[in-house]
Amino acid sequence: MRIYDIIAKKRDGFELTDKEIAFFVRGFTKGEIKDSQAAALLMAFYLNGLTDSETLCLTNEMAHSGDMLDLSSIGAVTADKHSTGGVGDKTTLVVAPIVAALGVKIAKMSGRGLGHTGGTVDKLESIEGFRTELSGEEFIDQVKRIGLCVVGQSTDLAPADKKLYALRDETATVGCVGLIASSIMSKKLASGAQCIVLDVKTGSGAFMKTVEDAEKLSRKMVDIGKGCKRKVAALITDMNTPLGNNIGNALEVIEAVEVLNGKGPEDLREVCVALAANIASLSLDIPLEKAEEAVSCALSDGSGFKKLCEMVESQGGNVRQLLDTGLFPAAKFCRKVVSEQSGFISFTDAEKIGSSSVLLGAGRKTKEDRIDHSAGIILHKKTGDCVEKGDIIAELFANNESLFDESEKLLLSAYSFSHNKPEKKPIIYKTVR
Ligand code: URA
Repeated sequence: MRIYDIIAKKRDGFELTDKEIAFFVRGFTKGEIKDSQAAALLMAFYLNGLTDSETLCLTNEMAHSGDMLDLSSIGAVTADKHSTGGVGDKTTLVVAPIVAALGVKIAKMSGRGLGHTGGTVDKLESIEGFRTELSGEEFIDQVKRIGLCVVGQSTDLAPADKKLYALRDETATVGCVGLIASSIMSKKLASGAQCIVLDVKTGSGAFMKTVEDAEKLSRKMVDIGKGCKRKVAALITDMNTPLGNNIGNALEVIEAVEVLNGKGPEDLREVCVALAANIASLSLDIPLEKAEEAVSCALSDGSGFKKLCEMVESQGGNVRQLLDTGLFPAAKFCRKVVSEQSGFISFTDAEKIGSSSVLLGAGRKTKEDRIDHSAGIILHKKTGDCVEKGDIIAELFANNESLFDESEKLLLSAYSFSHNKPEKKPIIYKTVR
């Protein structure tokens, strides 16, 4: 078999066999296939799309390119959740403890933020002492003991995807439904959970700009999961507007704690309840309505919050910060941003607001950048709100005042206004099962 012939075959629109895909993934991972040839094949995939059979095979090959986590010793149904990435998306910090309080075992590997989107691991690291790197044994032990563990992604998880993703990033081949679906699902399969709930974001701040594209991606991922004997559901949720009001690592942990204590913004709560209910329904094999009731209970009786505290304690974090969120170190400087006009807010562009918070130090422009956990934004007004010129629409937080001007300019450009109240759009568009 020659990689040259495989590239030519896909370029000409023919379907690759499982053996050809395996030859490509294994050869590329071992360094036997050159980046130039892998890039050419990725572009052929991008231009011609992947068939269902190609997508499934590529996913399995990437999943098996490294460690496949064996969670069988946990002795109960395990569940995982994944978000395709957004701004203000702190749902894992709420959903994972809630479902763990309901008896679902959550063994979760999460990512760091990159670009305008945040990552759960960075958020958790804003809690003093919290360890996101545990040994495999510690990870499984904790899940057995308290039903919940969230750590950073192990370097041995789907290394083929890691290498291919980096090449896709350099060759304008990221935005292909088949490649995104196999990339995400390879990591989820390797992480070992039997039930997987996917939060597929759509809108200005997401990879998938339209609900139609988000649905195509959701369908592919659900089909891959089923093909690999996992129970999978995908929720398509809005990412035109940031989720909740707080953006930035410590600020997002604080907002997650508010939701777990029965407070917090309504949009965030709605998405968290829907995700948690779908996980509970799939894992515990109960009807969705019953799962929703149980989730609401875990929010109002504080059992979800208690579970988060147990996890933080077990991973070396300072639980007192959760009990009194005023103990999170605050940024030295705050700038209040005022509206330059009156009217209804018709749009709050999530991507621009995410980038504005990166400029304050809350995110990374490159993988090597260090983040400032106390930096970020609190939005006081979002889409649908009515404002007068001069009203405070947001507060920016940073440890260096010189970062404010550029960030404020970008934040103001994220707001659009109209004379009439904009139609309220759903926050959850669809569920694909
Ligand atoms: N997230 C992933 O893990 N992979 C992709 O291809 C896109 C988003």
